[in-house]
Amino acid sequence: MIRLPGLIDSHVHVREPGQTHKEDWDTATQSALAGGVTMLLAMPNTKPPIFDASTLDLALGAAKEKARCDYAQFIGAGPDNAEVAASLADKTAGLKMYLDSTFGELRLDDMSLWMQHFANFPKDMPIVLHSESRTMGAGILFASIHDRPVHIAHISLKEEVLLIKAARERGIKVTCEVCPHHLFLSKDDIPVISHGHPGRGEVRPRLATKEDVEALWQNLDVIDCFATDHAPHTLAEKDSENPPPGFPGVETILPLLLTAVSEGRLTINHVLEKMVANPRRIFHLPEQPETWVEVDENAEYEIKASEMHSRCGWSPFEGWKVRGKVRRVVLRGKTAFEDGKILVEAGYGRNVRESEN
Ligand code: DOR
Ligand code: ZN
Repeated sequence: MIRLPGLIDSHVHVREPGQTHKEDWDTATQSALAGGVTMLLAMPNTKPPIFDASTLDLALGAAKEKARCDYAQFIGAGPDNAEVAASLADKTAGLKMYLDSTFGELRLDDMSLWMQHFANFPKDMPIVLHSESRTMGAGILFASIHDRPVHIAHISLKEEVLLIKAARERGIKVTCEVCPHHLFLSKDDIPVISHGHPGRGEVRPRLATKEDVEALWQNLDVIDCFATDHAPHTLAEKDSENPPPGFPGVETILPLLLTAVSEGRLTINHVLEKMVANPRRIFHLPEQPETWVEVDENAEYEIKASEMHSRCGWSPFEGWKVRGKVRRVVLRGKTAFEDGKILVEAGYGRNVRESEN
């Protein structure tokens, strides 16, 4: 048995408010705990999107009632909320800017709209960009012009990791994360994931080529965080005419990474650096006292969505044989998960941006 600190997943779509048939604060945080994640940062592309004080209250109210692990909530960048978002910054995980199209309504096409957010949002707080390929190049230029940190969500391409490396060598304040599906899957795997339903292979950024995947593994030192982009949609939605993009992932990230550790492709220190120390530094997150995860690093098992806690009911990693099982999770002194069972009640989770009282 090994003991790890509680992991931080800095990219989770909780789906509440508005789409609780896919997931909610209860099921997302149960799935997190079962995966060894004791703190998650929630994305703002909900229904309605989180973009002002009242929508932020909506998300945080649901979280307060239902969350079982600790959390913070991102606010989304819209066309006319730059000042409001900045004024709420210290209540949020940070600002999320959608610069390319994906699931939900939040998207900023015009670069003049980006400028207001870069100028207004507090410089010590992270701005996270959904920006793929050349859009990412533009986002890094903004970080340079405004001399402020940006964090690039879910990089997936060789050109992206190489540009981030070059930008960082020039002193530009850019950090990045990679998702398990972009590390462990390529576009060649889509037929297997799909089982004849092409929608199941849809995710943004799309699964990339084997060469791109290889470039991420070759440049692990450029990658600051592993984060899941846990994006639950039901199987009926994935198999429909107009399938929404996204994969669930918060419950499978640790076993996948530990399997890579057992194969000598990663070290346990990589996992701790990219899922604890770096997200904590980048997003200014507090330590969680008396919090740890007990893992049986030799236990082998098969990933089965039917045994997981997410409401979405499927996984792109279904049937994968993994090595490394979460046995017990202790969160702030209380056993929160043990042998497949969630043991803390809804509402035990804390908003890490709120002071104790
Ligand atoms: O595949 C994705 N799904 N990519 C995103 O950027 C959004 C996410 C979602 O919310 O479903
Ligand atoms: Zn996302």
